[in-house]
Amino acid sequence: MGIAKDIVAESIYTALPQLSLQEIDELLEVPPNQDLGDYSFPCFTLAKKLKKSPVLIASDLAEKMPENKLFEKIDVVYGFVNFSLNKGYLASKLLPKIISEHKEYGKSAEGAGKTVVLDFSSPNIAKPFSVAHLRSTVIGHSLARIWEHMGYKAERVNHLGDWGTQFGKVIVAYKKWGDEPSEHSKGSIRHLLELYVRFHKEAEDQPDLDDEARLWFKKLEDGDKEAYSLWQQFRKTSLDNLREVYELMGVGFDHYTGESFYNDLMPKAIEKLEPFMEVSEGADIVSLGEDMPPFLVRKSDGATLYGTRDLTAAIYRFETFNFAKCLYVVGGEQALHFKQVFAVLKKLGYDWADSCEHVPFGLMRFGDMKLSTRQGNVIFLEDVLNKAIDLTKEIIEEKNPDIENKDDVARMVGVGAVIFNDLRNNRIKTINFEWDDLLNFQGDTGPYIQYTHARACSLLSKAEEVTTVNLELLQEVEEEVLVAELERFPDIVKQAARANEPSTIARYLLSLARDFNKFYQAHRILDVEEELKKARLTLVDAIRKTIDTGLFLLGLEAPEKM
Ligand code: ARG
Repeated sequence: MGIAKDIVAESIYTALPQLSLQEIDELLEVPPNQDLGDYSFPCFTLAKKLKKSPVLIASDLAEKMPENKLFEKIDVVYGFVNFSLNKGYLASKLLPKIISEHKEYGKSAEGAGKTVVLDFSSPNIAKPFSVAHLRSTVIGHSLARIWEHMGYKAERVNHLGDWGTQFGKVIVAYKKWGDEPSEHSKGSIRHLLELYVRFHKEAEDQPDLDDEARLWFKKLEDGDKEAYSLWQQFRKTSLDNLREVYELMGVGFDHYTGESFYNDLMPKAIEKLEPFMEVSEGADIVSLGEDMPPFLVRKSDGATLYGTRDLTAAIYRFETFNFAKCLYVVGGEQALHFKQVFAVLKKLGYDWADSCEHVPFGLMRFGDMKLSTRQGNVIFLEDVLNKAIDLTKEIIEEKNPDIENKDDVARMVGVGAVIFNDLRNNRIKTINFEWDDLLNFQGDTGPYIQYTHARACSLLSKAEEVTTVNLELLQEVEEEVLVAELERFPDIVKQAARANEPSTIARYLLSLARDFNKFYQAHRILDVEEELKKARLTLVDAIRKTIDTGLFLLGLEAPEKM
């Protein structure tokens, strides 16, 4: 929590011990504008408990508030108690703390000793890494950092789709047409895609191809040497390509345990399911009552499924990591799948199933193109990122041609633009991918925030080191807004974690950047009287460090010049 919010909550607690500190913390809100105060405590929900009217509760509470230098004013407005903070005093406590903590600012001890497993990105390999998996990658990567900021240990798991019938298809296609001329180098990911698309096209008139593919997958499952070595080769090609893309985005994983990893563990999991299993049309199923279709364990030919592997994976993860939470960052269309997996886990008596959570997100619209791997109209994420970098380079060339490390900056800004575009709205919303929006240095974009950060850095580079300073001099409205906003950062991180919603931080940063730019437009910073200049520069330093930390939590880098 923020240092002021803590004090407000503790003060309320001394006057209102009927509520726990945590309940008070959850009730406290930020009023829509600062004239009403910096924090507001609504008393409406207490009326029943205390058998008093909200207005009476509020005025009693305001009266009993202990003295504190931090409170400038405490008002009762209807059923609210509104707290206006003494911003000068707050600044003197807060800004030095932010500056010395920098990347640690807002870090919580809440998760000490606890682990969060995050299953994200998890593309189906032997198919290219298309923009369709961008969302999971970006959201999951950000959430891992957010949970780490909450003090948890994060285990980043890539549950690669590296097993299943699609490998039968690629094997068949590779054997049939792999030697034919192609504009792509043999065995490359683009070559594999070409083969995969051709397979689907030819299979329309030759349904035998599908049988052949099933046969090859069966061979693979039975450990056939040729099938296995081809599979290994395809997996390696895909992984190499994947890792390049991850590197470009600055994304990393602790475990590349894909679906194939669970092959040997599945029999044990299925054994546990035995008492709940029934046979239906030759397949092994577990019924899940009225409100859900049954969970399919094994098909009639004995083959296991996506769900079987997810069930096995969940058990393995709990046994390995003893997690406090296991988050699945996967598109909303898989909601039923996860509901079923969690319900089966419950049936098996695993109470920790309640700590498993599907974190869904909406679709991504890329112009008016529909993305379908089968038809070959995939958009390679790699191409998108490279285009973002190239376009950024053009903008930099225009705006700031003399800058050092142009390539590096273009990468940070270009990739950052793509990431931010994905995180700025609630994850469940459909997002549109429009080049002009994404790279607009004045819009609600990553580059806008990065640019603001660079502007703050440039101000600081023009001044000598600031040592002792009187921060009570920060009395302008624009300054007070910024101080109050900085104080809220720890709480914003907490809210983002609670809701698994990086957009909370994205929107906060946009507002902080806008307010900083308002301040910058309205007041001079470098050519004012020495003491005031020092105070303002200290504020600027705290802002750029908070922006840097916030961007880090979203997975963006913050160049000092751009
Ligand atoms: N490979 C899957 C897909 O692309 C996503 C896997 C998500 N994770 C999981 N544990 N099921 O649809």
